[in-house]
Amino acid sequence: MRELYTQVIMDHYKKPRNHGEIENPDIEEHLLNPLCGDEVTVYAKFDGDKVAEASFTGRGCSISQASASMMTERLVGKSREGAEAEIESFKNMMTGDEEFPDDEDELAALKGIIQYPSRIRCATLSWDAFQRGLDGN
Ligand code: FES
Repeated sequence: MRELYTQVIMDHYKKPRNHGEIENPDIEEHLLNPLCGDEVTVYAKFDGDKVAEASFTGRGCSISQASASMMTERLVGKSREGAEAEIESFKNMMTGDEEFPDDEDELAALKGIIQYPSRIRCATLSWDAFQRGLDGN
């Protein structure tokens, strides 16, 4: 994996953004990765149709934690529909059905993961949890 990508992932892993619970959340969704036993819980609060706050807790590898951290940054401020579109787009990237953004976008740091099929779930875990949360609310 390119040095720059590793740096971005490690930065989010060591200093996760939006880490912690949200009080009285509109979304609280827990998801387990059965392949390794790692888990994530995502939280969100809406202001009307907008994601006003998003956060996560859990434990897992650097990829899962970095991906969750990036996801929360990306989804705050999005409408429900916009958040769903972001999640779908990210999942398409991880299956190779959509191009990753260029290097200015931090998500590009995750593109090397698709070469390691067993790690793809690490990257998509929190995004799937958020989608499930949206589906249930
Ligand atoms: Fe468990 Fe990545 S190894 S989430």
